[in-house]
Amino acid sequence: MWEWIAQETQYCIFAYNLGRTYSALKNRKLPLETTYVDIRNATDGWSAIRDMVVRGAPAIAIAAALSLAVEVSNLEAFEGTSDDAVSFLNKKLEYLVSSRPTAVNLSDAAMKLKEVISNAAATASEAQSIFQAYIEAAEIMLRDDVACNKAIGSYGASFLCHQLKNSKSLSILTHCNTGSLATAGYGTALGVIRAVHAEGLLERAYCTETRPFNQGSRLTAFELVHDNIPATLVADSAAAALMREGRVDAVIVGADRVAANGDTANKIGTYSLALCAMNHNIPFYVAAPLTSVDLSLSSGQEIVIEERSQKELTHTRGGLGEQVAASGVSVWNPAFDVTPANLISGIITEKGLVTKMNSDAFKIKDFVEKVSK
Ligand code: MRU
Repeated sequence: MWEWIAQETQYCIFAYNLGRTYSALKNRKLPLETTYVDIRNATDGWSAIRDMVVRGAPAIAIAAALSLAVEVSNLEAFEGTSDDAVSFLNKKLEYLVSSRPTAVNLSDAAMKLKEVISNAAATASEAQSIFQAYIEAAEIMLRDDVACNKAIGSYGASFLCHQLKNSKSLSILTHCNTGSLATAGYGTALGVIRAVHAEGLLERAYCTETRPFNQGSRLTAFELVHDNIPATLVADSAAAALMREGRVDAVIVGADRVAANGDTANKIGTYSLALCAMNHNIPFYVAAPLTSVDLSLSSGQEIVIEERSQKELTHTRGGLGEQVAASGVSVWNPAFDVTPANLISGIITEKGLVTKMNSDAFKIKDFVEKVSK
């Protein structure tokens, strides 16, 4: 499994060895150090997600699933019944979901894993069989994510290349990090950029710094340089000027939770980029797997936005470095914002592009029903 992931994504995000050992690449140390944290159980997984050692909506879902897989794989002895195994796994999953609230991929993964557990319990009389079913399901999630991202990349690239500019290469602005480091590999919005580049049609990728945690300057810039993709880093506050100079053909971002009408929660600053793009007549796309869609929410107003520590804003290096803000100032540090559907030109998924059909909102439920037939 380790070799498979390393081969697919150039650098290994999850070094997972069939339930025996599991380490995650420390996002907080990049780009200066490539080091791993050992994750032995759900408690380690919870902390890695909460402290943003692993971050990005798809990555945190997989990180959580694998942390529990490795815990049950390495259980010395489990004396309980199959019912005890079910309640053990379900409680751990609920605990893992509590690590970060906004990305729906985590709760979606937990819900699907609970279904696997319940189905296994219907036929198994021993706890071990339920644990085994859980481990296999978690491993499938890890494997499926890369394939899903490649499908997003391929749909996104063919759509952009045909619809936007037939004759010219594209310059694309992206925000935060949505690449191999935010998924099991390849990425969503950054996956589309990778695919456009692979087609020979990318002029340049612009990545925002993404204050206050700097996922853009630390992680997206790292991935773009690693893959030799022509790239320019800009301060978040330079994006409007860049658009006004005519240097951006499209904006593509990821998503943490997409409501049924297409309103999209993503890294703080996404909403400002969408407003700027609208003002400059630049198409603004969201690239996300269908696991990022929350059909239970009719609009983005219902999305819970995570607020993070003041220190991430007042100190450098995500709160670990030196103080840069005046002591005593009050701080508001939301990790995400919601971009309303009317500012979004299309949503690129692994099943194709969701469009609005001359309306202000998307009908994602209809799309999901159509593609699941
Ligand atoms: O706080 P983070 O770094 O987890 O936020 C990440 C983002 O907002 C990403 O754009 C989103 O999760 C999509 S990752 C494919």
